[in-house]
Amino acid sequence: MFKIKYIVRTKYKIPQKKAYMNFNLTEEHIMIRDAARDFAQTELLPGVIERDNKQEFPDELVKKMGALGFMGIMVDPKYGGSGMDTISYILIMEELSKIDASASVIVSVNNSLVCYGLEAFGTEIQKQKYLTKLATGEFIGAFCLSEPEAGSDATSQKTTAIDKGDHYIINGTKNWITNGGRADIYLVIAQTDKEKGHKGINVFIVEKGTEGFYIGPKEDKLGIRGSDTHTLQFNDVKVPKENRIGEDGFGFKFAMKTLSGGRIGIAAQALGIAAGAYELALKYSKERKAFGTEICNHQAIAFKLADMHTEIEAARMLVTKTAWDKDQNKNYDTSSAMAKLYASKVAMKQTVEAVQIHGGNGFVKEYHVERLMRDAKITQIYEGTSEIQKIVISRSILKK
Ligand code: CAA
Repeated sequence: MFKIKYIVRTKYKIPQKKAYMNFNLTEEHIMIRDAARDFAQTELLPGVIERDNKQEFPDELVKKMGALGFMGIMVDPKYGGSGMDTISYILIMEELSKIDASASVIVSVNNSLVCYGLEAFGTEIQKQKYLTKLATGEFIGAFCLSEPEAGSDATSQKTTAIDKGDHYIINGTKNWITNGGRADIYLVIAQTDKEKGHKGINVFIVEKGTEGFYIGPKEDKLGIRGSDTHTLQFNDVKVPKENRIGEDGFGFKFAMKTLSGGRIGIAAQALGIAAGAYELALKYSKERKAFGTEICNHQAIAFKLADMHTEIEAARMLVTKTAWDKDQNKNYDTSSAMAKLYASKVAMKQTVEAVQIHGGNGFVKEYHVERLMRDAKITQIYEGTSEIQKIVISRSILKK
């Protein structure tokens, strides 16, 4: 055994202590996590049931998240961002999601799909004009890929963008758009040349209020009800050419690349929902008495807690690993799909268990677990369904 260690260290020139994996958070990560936890407890928890009932999320709370740096977590400070790493991002996402998954999806879409897309692939002019405002929470972004007939099958875009020289004309409908009603900036994916398949797809920055751009009514949803979801209509919307992101035909790859990072955010959201439900169930099980003792003393409940704790920790490992991959500039397409697939499954399963542990109270809104159970479901659907994650994972296995 010693010999193997010696050979590995010598070959890869690994210093003695660093040969081991480090599962500890840094002091900075702990501070960031605690700041997010504190914000969730003091600012998000008080009105969360009312926001879920009323299907609203006040601008004031978005501004507060912006002030704390949550709207541009990984964005370079030169564009107004917080300059944090992806580990910080998942810690913030987990803590917000334990209390309010509607808040965390606003954060996730703005960070992973909009800020990242602009910072990684936008021009300097686009970054100065839009990213600087999105990263601070002054603006909110939306990502418009899904359509009535193109959700999972993202190459089948029906929305068209016709090249008219110095501008494009966009026509079409986008569905289930997170932040759809409240966003200032919309990244719209559209077909510019049907003959070219996915290579004939582009992505454009469309500002709210552009002529011909209409926002449909808010969807009445099962979960994440505080977050607004809308259908968007584009009728001869004129967009200047300088608002296209990347080279001609880059739109599909832009969507795939941003969604890989988005899946890290949603995996962390699912983890947070599961962990939030577990914490509530654990606390409740130590307080509620039945048959003369706290219910946690009954093996039926203790075993549920054991499974919850184990599966949540396993999900945390996958979520942390994919965030680490991104921070190390490794490919994270597969690890993010695995993290999202598993964490969302755990979120769905374990929020149902949390309701069960709460018994009749679990079915009542004031105990929070029924909301977490409703919120969990979307993590198996948006930013690629579980079935899509299995396509991504299996293709990567078979390619190897
Ligand atoms: N990075 C870069 N390029 C990628 C890529 C990635 N992660 N994944 C695929 N590509 C490239 C491929 O290499 C290929 O390029 P070449 O032809 O040059 O080699 C091209 O993209 C097409 O790839 P595929 O042939 O694999 O495409 P496909 O039609 O088989 O689809 C898919 C692949 C994985 C199923 C994809 O369509 C997909 O991810 N679908 C799900 C879309 C999705 O997640 N929708 C969610 C909506 S957004 C949302 O929910 C946001 C919100 O508001 C919360």
